[in-house]
Amino acid sequence: MEKNLKIFAISNQKGGVGKTTSTVNLAAALANNQKKVLLIDLDPQANATSGSGVSKKDIHGSIYEVLIGNKNLKDIITRSPSEKFDVAGANQALAGAEVELVDLPKREYILKNQINTLNGYDFILIDCPPALNLLTVNALVAANSVIIPMQCEYFALEGLSDLVSTIKKVKQHLNPNIEIEGLLRTLFDRRNTLTKQVSDQLAAHFGSKVYTTIIPRNVRLAEAPSYGQSVISYDRSSKGAKAYLTLAEEILLGQHNEK
Ligand SMILES: Nc1ncnc2c1ncn2[C@@H]1O[C@H](COP(=O)(O)OP(=O)(O)OP(=O)(O)O)[C@@H](O)[C@H]1O
Ligand SMILES: [Mg+2]
Repeated sequence: MEKNLKIFAISNQKGGVGKTTSTVNLAAALANNQKKVLLIDLDPQANATSGSGVSKKDIHGSIYEVLIGNKNLKDIITRSPSEKFDVAGANQALAGAEVELVDLPKREYILKNQINTLNGYDFILIDCPPALNLLTVNALVAANSVIIPMQCEYFALEGLSDLVSTIKKVKQHLNPNIEIEGLLRTLFDRRNTLTKQVSDQLAAHFGSKVYTTIIPRNVRLAEAPSYGQSVISYDRSSKGAKAYLTLAEEILLGQHNEK
């Protein structure tokens, strides 16, 4: 495994907060900075797979077969036809994986052990399902850190403590290195006063863990997946594309300063 490889789990058990949108577009934005990127789709909805232009029936094996031990991760990786990054795709079969995994030895470490066999990537981004289940635990065990997309609305902070305590448990028992990489404010609507209040609350609670970059609500971001493209390929001049390019810069600068 590469020494400078960074593995991010993009996770929040709340649905529809922009996990998949952030995974695909951050992957594209990092690739746009000449980084070698792998996107792993760990959600049975497989939205990150289709949103990267990879057709569910075209993939020769999915992350499901990797998790149940029938295939190696490196053998199912495919290049996005529209983007400059690789994809380990998912399909609906993954929904059954949870039950099948329960009886496997070291079931929390399967993804981590498979990632350890890879070479040549700078970043691996794992799109998690909207649940704190064994799939998400596999992502948290494999990852160096977690990016938490947050839609700044009333109930946003409520679920956050469950996620934070899951991350703490994983840190205690399974992956001592896991950290919160950053909280990402998504679907941001400046005209909404509640959005602003929640956003300020987040900043007060989590301080510098909250990314300076804010992802606005932008229709281009919602349109791009139906063309199997990132927003950067679909409409590079859109506010959504600019926001994810700025986020990539913020993350790359953060990595640089760490060294
Ligand atoms: N910044 C944005 N502006 C406009 N639409 C967005 C934005 N972010 C996400 N969306 C849209 O909102 C919906 C939910 O986004 P997304 O699928 O990324 O969330 P998710 O957290 O991955 O959802 P799930 O929990 O179901 O996996 C999608 O239709 C997506 O296109
Ligand atoms: Mg999703």
